[in-house]
Amino acid sequence: MKIFSFVVSACTLTSLVAAQATVITQNLQSCIGDGQFQLGIDYFPNKFTPRKYSPIFLPENQATLDMTTDLLEIEYFDYYKIVTNKYHNKTYLLYQCGATPPMEEVLSGRHQLVLPIPHKGGLAITETPQIPPLELLGLRQEIIAYIGDPQYVSSPCLNYAIDELGSVEVVFDPEDPWNSERTQELTDEFLSRHPEAIIFGGIFANASADRIMGVAETQERTNVATFDWISLYAALFNLEELSNEIAKETEERYQCSSANARSLSSDIEEDDRPVIFWADFFEGYNWSVAECPTWDHTYYCEYASHCGAHIISRPEDMGTQDEYGYWYLNDDEVLKLGKDADIFVFPSLFWDTVYEQKRDILDQFKAVQNKRVYDTQGGGPNAWYEQRLAEYDVVGNDFCAMVGLSNPNQDPPHTIKWLRNVFTGTVPEEGTCNVPENLDDQYVPVGAFCAPVEQLGGPDEGGDTEGSETSSSAPATHAGLALVSSILYVTLLW
Ligand SMILES: *[C@@H]1O[C@H](CO)[C@@H](O)[C@H](O)[C@H]1NC(C)=O
Ligand SMILES: *[C@@H]1O[C@H](CO)[C@@H](O)[C@H](O)[C@H]1NC(C)=O
Ligand SMILES: *[C@@H]1O[C@H](CO)[C@@H](O)[C@H](O)[C@H]1NC(C)=O
Repeated sequence: MKIFSFVVSACTLTSLVAAQATVITQNLQSCIGDGQFQLGIDYFPNKFTPRKYSPIFLPENQATLDMTTDLLEIEYFDYYKIVTNKYHNKTYLLYQCGATPPMEEVLSGRHQLVLPIPHKGGLAITETPQIPPLELLGLRQEIIAYIGDPQYVSSPCLNYAIDELGSVEVVFDPEDPWNSERTQELTDEFLSRHPEAIIFGGIFANASADRIMGVAETQERTNVATFDWISLYAALFNLEELSNEIAKETEERYQCSSANARSLSSDIEEDDRPVIFWADFFEGYNWSVAECPTWDHTYYCEYASHCGAHIISRPEDMGTQDEYGYWYLNDDEVLKLGKDADIFVFPSLFWDTVYEQKRDILDQFKAVQNKRVYDTQGGGPNAWYEQRLAEYDVVGNDFCAMVGLSNPNQDPPHTIKWLRNVFTGTVPEEGTCNVPENLDDQYVPVGAFCAPVEQLGGPDEGGDTEGSETSSSAPATHAGLALVSSILYVTLLW
């Protein structure tokens, strides 16, 4: 209903405008028709606007720091965009299909890829964190291959596409999974069949290799900037309006949980704030604990500050360093450092094993005695490494709830989703794909809703609905945008 009336009014509007000059009001979802290209038209009215994150927990003298997306930049010209990935030191030239690519730029040879957009030819992913941004944008069906071991994929719908539909091919040799030459051979063979595909490569990928587009979201300083890389994927499909909107709404919800924690803890003395001990155990190496010299050193340092909690950081003079530079603590050190913490986070899958093995020391921890130990299996065994990055607002809600500083009056109250109490919580099965017939439905995270403490809020006041897959406040859909913009365009050319 809503889309229909929008289209009608858009048509009325543009037929008026078309009489004078061609104006593109939304990025095109299709190619410019034969002979229709015009110089001097801005074909990309929707442009990536990086988030300017200003953490509300910072003291006033630091709050003006410009926390933005450092490593991704998109410059817009009338009919092409230049995407710069500063981590891999690569640029990508994307030009509106139907236009001729700018010859000077192409001939300069400085661009790793020259691509007509909206991209056709499929996407191949190499790391699971590349999945959620595509799902949030409703682009799941653009994925045609997973390069690597599919056992780590936690997205139910991507698994469905791999296992049931066969629409996503797995490029991987189960007999020889760690042989990078073998994987390269298989990748080359895949590319010979799909020469137009784009392969997203992570921080260790060879960003100079054929058809690779580097993704380095994990190298950003903040959770907000990490998420902002959704715009890289969006730019390939002219979906910047949608990605800007998703990034903005996600950040607003994230700021809400921080504001709540701040407001709820305003009476708590600095020394009485909840204390988190963050430690993992690696057989043969010993304990690895949080390093938080600054609040933005790692994502978990940021979450602790976000929720007004203290996180214990390894003192410089404690532990031993391995040959790769990682620090490990022995049992005595870990006990000394963490025993009085209120909350113990064990970010791995093996609490039960380690607890069996080390009961004598672990039972001396206050957090263990009080049964306030959490691991990261609340969303299933592998989802933490994949989906969490796309739901940092939900993780923010979780962290603040874990330390007891989330809105007690929110209705419905927040249910901790990503963290799991190891004594009382269960590890969910991998979910099922609810919409196999409609794989391009946008993924809408559950548990993102945050009501400000000042207001006794319900889900109507923003965010999505707790416990449901759809939401009345979900952003505009990809299909909706596509329909509107193609109709606009057809009208213009008429
Ligand atoms: C980045 O790449 C360009 C060529 O594309 C090169 O000239 C420049 O030296 C590189 N910069 C760094 C820091 O590697
Ligand atoms: C990266 O890929 C380029 C282009 O295929 C190749 O020339 C180079 O040797 C590769 N580098 C590594 C380290 O494999
Ligand atoms: C790990 O800690 C134990 C004691 O807690 C110690 O005996 C062992 O040598 C340590 N291992 C390493 C690799 O440091």
